[in-house]
Amino acid sequence: MAENPEEPEVEEEYISRYKSVEDLPGVGPATAEKLKKLGYTTVEALATASIKELTQVLGEKTANAIVTEARKQLISVPFMRADEYLKFRSTVERITTGCRGLDMLLGGGVETQAITEFYGEFGTGKSQICHQLCVNVQLPRERGGLEGGALYIDTEHTFRPERIAQIAKNLNLDPKKALSRVIYAEALTSDHQMYLLDHAASQMSEHNIRLIIVDSLIAHFRSEFIGREMLAERQQKLERHLHKLMKLARAYNAAAVVTNQVMAKPDAFFTDAVGPTGGHILAHISHTRIFLRKSPTPHVRIAKLVVSPSLPEGSECPFKITEKGIEDVEVRERK
Ligand SMILES: Nc1ncnc2c1ncn2[C@@H]1O[C@H](COP(=O)(O)OP(=O)(O)OP(=O)(O)O)[C@@H](O)[C@H]1O
Ligand SMILES: [Mg+2]
Repeated sequence: MAENPEEPEVEEEYISRYKSVEDLPGVGPATAEKLKKLGYTTVEALATASIKELTQVLGEKTANAIVTEARKQLISVPFMRADEYLKFRSTVERITTGCRGLDMLLGGGVETQAITEFYGEFGTGKSQICHQLCVNVQLPRERGGLEGGALYIDTEHTFRPERIAQIAKNLNLDPKKALSRVIYAEALTSDHQMYLLDHAASQMSEHNIRLIIVDSLIAHFRSEFIGREMLAERQQKLERHLHKLMKLARAYNAAAVVTNQVMAKPDAFFTDAVGPTGGHILAHISHTRIFLRKSPTPHVRIAKLVVSPSLPEGSECPFKITEKGIEDVEVRERK
C-alpha cells in the first residue's frame, strides 16, 4: 500500500478490524447467510462464537477456520480511531463480585477484555473473590453474570470445589451444574502454567469460558527465578504469559483475573515482582489493580483501587468473607 516503505500500513490495518463477515476468507454470501441465521452478523461476534454452535450450519473445519480468522482480526490490529474504539468497547461486559461496594469500585464489576489484579497479604480474600467470580460469571445477565463458564488456573493448590458448591447453593444455583462449568487446572511450574494458557483456546470455546482466573500469577515465577541475574528472563516469560492472557480475554470477550501475594508494602510490590530494572510489566496492558488488606473487624477486608485506566484511583470499600461468599458490609457493621 504505502509507497514509502518506512510508512506503517496503518490505514489497511485499521480497516481490517471492521470488515464485514463476508470479507473473512472462506465466507461467501451463502455461508454469511447461514451465519446470520444463527445470529452472527459481525466479526466480533464470530470471534467469540462457539465452534460447536457453528457446526449446526457448517462443517467443523470451515467453522474452525472462520472463528480462527475472526479472532485474528480482533486481536491483531493496533491502530484505530477513537470512535471505532468506543464501538469496540461497547462489547465489554462486567461480572458482579457479589458485593455492591466492590462492584462500584470496579465501575460495575470485573471487566471483560481486560486484566484485573487482586493483590494483598495472605488471607485477604484473593482466592475467595476468585471462587465467587467463578460462580457469578454463570449467573444470568440480569443478576450480574454472563451466562458463561470459568477457567481456573491454580498455582498454589488452593482451589476448593466444595467452596464453589457452597457459593452456588447460596445463589440458588444447582451446585453440581455450577461445578461442571468451572474448568480447573493445577499449574505445577511456571512453564506448565504458560503451557496451560497456551493451550486454553479449545477449552474457551468448548465451555463458553467468560472468566479466566490465574491464582496466583507470580508464585511459581517468583520461586523459580531467584536472584538478579534471572530477573530479565522471569520478566520476559511473565510478559509473554500476560500477553497471552490478554489475547484470550479479548478474543473470547472474557474477564481475566489474576492474584498476587505481597507483604504489606503495596507500592513496592511491582518493583519487587519484576526487579528494579523491570518497571511496570503491565503498563501497556489494560489493567486494573485492587489492593486488599485486613481490617480489625473479624471477616472484614478493605479493597482499594490502586490502578485503573478509567476510574478514580484511591477509592476504598469494605467487604466481608462469610460462608455465603463475598458480601457487603452493612454500615452498622463498619467500625
Ligand atoms: N467457607 C468459608 N466461610 C467463611 N470464611 C471463609 C470460608 N472459606 C474461606 N474463608 C475465609 O477466607 C479467608 C481466606 O481468604 P483467601 O484464601 O481468599 O486468602 P488469599 O488472599 O487468597 O490468601 P493467600 O495469599 O494465602 O492465597 C480466611 O479468613 C477464611 O477464614
Ligand atoms: Mg489465595
